[in-house]
Amino acid sequence: MEIIHVSAECYPVAKAGGLGDVVGALPKYQHDLGHVAKVVMPMYRTKFLAANEFDVVHKGYTHLHNYWFNYTIIKERTNKLGFDLYLVDIFGLLDREKIYGYDDDVERFTAFQIAVVDWMVSWAHQPDIIHVHDHHTALIPFMVKYCFAYQKLQNIATVLTIHNGQYQGQTGMDKTVLIPAWDPWKRGLLEWAGALNPLACGIRCAWKVTTVSPTYLEEMRYSSAGLEPLLEYEKGKCSGILNGIDTVVWNPATDRYLVEDHTDVHYDITTAEEGKQKNKARLCQKYNLDPKKPLITFIGRLVGDKGADLLPQVIEESFYYIGRKMNFFILGSGLPEIEGRLQGIRGLSRGDYNTYIGYDEALSHLIYAGADFILMPSRVEPCGLNQMYALRYGTVPVVRNTGGLHDTVIDYGDKDGYGIRFNHATVGDMTHGIWRSVELFQQQEMLREIRQRMMQLDFSWETSVRAYLDLYDRARHGG
Ligand code: ADP
Ligand code: GLC
Repeated sequence: MEIIHVSAECYPVAKAGGLGDVVGALPKYQHDLGHVAKVVMPMYRTKFLAANEFDVVHKGYTHLHNYWFNYTIIKERTNKLGFDLYLVDIFGLLDREKIYGYDDDVERFTAFQIAVVDWMVSWAHQPDIIHVHDHHTALIPFMVKYCFAYQKLQNIATVLTIHNGQYQGQTGMDKTVLIPAWDPWKRGLLEWAGALNPLACGIRCAWKVTTVSPTYLEEMRYSSAGLEPLLEYEKGKCSGILNGIDTVVWNPATDRYLVEDHTDVHYDITTAEEGKQKNKARLCQKYNLDPKKPLITFIGRLVGDKGADLLPQVIEESFYYIGRKMNFFILGSGLPEIEGRLQGIRGLSRGDYNTYIGYDEALSHLIYAGADFILMPSRVEPCGLNQMYALRYGTVPVVRNTGGLHDTVIDYGDKDGYGIRFNHATVGDMTHGIWRSVELFQQQEMLREIRQRMMQLDFSWETSVRAYLDLYDRARHGG
């Protein structure tokens, strides 16, 4: 099969979160099973661009309402990523350093989608599947079906994966003029609750829709920021497929970020205890923390969905009620208010709290390797990759029982369990989870046993990649 993934992110080219990880891994595993997997994404001005070589494969000229633009498609030359990578360059729109966050994001991503489809119309052959990810690319299933210029592509099966249904890309209906001439009878497909809603449009027009875990699909049916009735109506074509992790990039025995000062700090299941100690010592030394105490960490976007707003109070209350028995280290960036509060409570530290505000891929790997526990108090977690990386690195996940966290973490109090689960995203429930972490840390024998159990778990893509292939088959042949 030939599968075209269209996405705003793809690791290692450009990543803001888990979407980048998934689109950087899934195609590789599809390719390994003998399929042609291509990723098409915008050509931002990231370091990857300067460090790699590309060939120009297509130059086009098309329009965004009244504005005509040139686009260029380039292809990475060496194919060392394990899949074919194509970048779309649009001068003045996509050539920026950041992925998102510009006032003209609607125009940027609409132009990107138009360029992708426009390019595909020029192909001599047709791919089997167009797989789009999240709202930035969710207008493509509509475009290939109902834009007059693209009807040549209307029989290609389209699949939409929802990585996070909280973000739908809503904008004014006036922006529908940006989409190349489309069948006016289909206006209703673009509109949801009075707005142009690309995610809702994708759910309606894609042949199949997936979420990144089965539990998240269930949750979306009763809580999905206004999409509930639509998901109920379209439930026949929706399924939940759990993400996997890239076990080559995320392997404590070979992780390329875990080498420093010529000291080998890699480890596997047989050397996990000493390996983690070494990494913990490095992390603690670097950030002035106490390696003798349990190290409880958080990595992620500092936003309400991740429960990050609760962290400052939870840390204060834990010190107050449980005592100075643990360290906390937070890596993240996001809402300025949360960033400010996390920096503000540094004053509390007696060598047991620190934070790094920003995005740092290498530091995140060191944390997975060196931490004892990782906190995920998410209000919403469609899948979550942090807990799966943590498990592979022998770090106990302390998670709220929701979405993908529900599907991947079993409490160590239950049969065959290995994590700590709590039910509500509240200061009380989280502090209780921290108390249980401290208790567990004091029972070193049990912690070792749990670590062995979690490091044997298999969250690789092997199973999920087959589930996607099966879904593509059903999309193509009906069923
Ligand atoms: P989401 O995509 O919702 O942010 P995921 O758990 O799916 O959550 O994926 C988050 C990914 O981003 C993980 O690879 C995590 O390690 C990484 N990450 C998040 N914040 C940071 C940060 N500040 N620095 C480095 N890596 C980060
Ligand atoms: C989204 C979700 C996260 C998921 C990731 C990859 O960013 O918030 O839970 O793991 O996509 O699918």
